[in-house]
Amino acid sequence: MTQDEMKRAAAQEAVKYLSKGDVVGVGTGSTANYFIEELSKWGGAVGAIASSEATASRLKSCGIPVLDLNEVDEFGVYVDGADEINHKLEMIKGGGGALTREKIVAAAAQTFICIVDETKVVDVLGRFPLPVEVIPMAASYVLRTISELGGDPQIRKNFVTDNGNIILDVHGLSIENAAEMEQTLNNVVGAVTNGLFANRPANIMVVGGKSGVQIARA
Ligand code: 5RP
Repeated sequence: MTQDEMKRAAAQEAVKYLSKGDVVGVGTGSTANYFIEELSKWGGAVGAIASSEATASRLKSCGIPVLDLNEVDEFGVYVDGADEINHKLEMIKGGGGALTREKIVAAAAQTFICIVDETKVVDVLGRFPLPVEVIPMAASYVLRTISELGGDPQIRKNFVTDNGNIILDVHGLSIENAAEMEQTLNNVVGAVTNGLFANRPANIMVVGGKSGVQIARA
């Protein structure tokens, strides 16, 4: 089974958690794209809340209405991939640069289902460089501050987020206490969002693997 087949298997499984008439939050990335295909085949969602412009246009091209989060009081399920996920269902996200909108949609959802292939499951977060979205005028201040915290931040080249900001990818971290690190980075002025999803972890992890799909709950 290829990595893409494992991603698709996880996406297929996630659709089973939906009910007809749901509004569904939809993440960004290749695994989320498989989920959009499955959502479109299933046909039961009345609309979706997109975590990026790329996801919004993909949803629309599949005929799924895209709703404004401000017009939806409450919704049940947010489905998204991750760059890394640990056994507490804490994640690093933002490899695709959509971390801020992903964090907003995840915060508003009752249930976060993280769909990954088995290569994304780790014991300790941090081998994948941690993305941090930064307001451009704060770039060198945030770079210095994160370096003082022990990371090695590098500006993502030729990349602007949907919010008009830049991304710093922070290398060299071994994140034992993800919730604390997320809070610490939240306090860096000029950093809009960091890619640690620990204070709002996933509720359900769906892992596509060579020997089938495994489910874990927080
Ligand atoms: C985008 C993300 C993605 O969920 C993450 O990068 C995983 O991507 P993929 O499903 O393509 O492996 O956080 O900002």
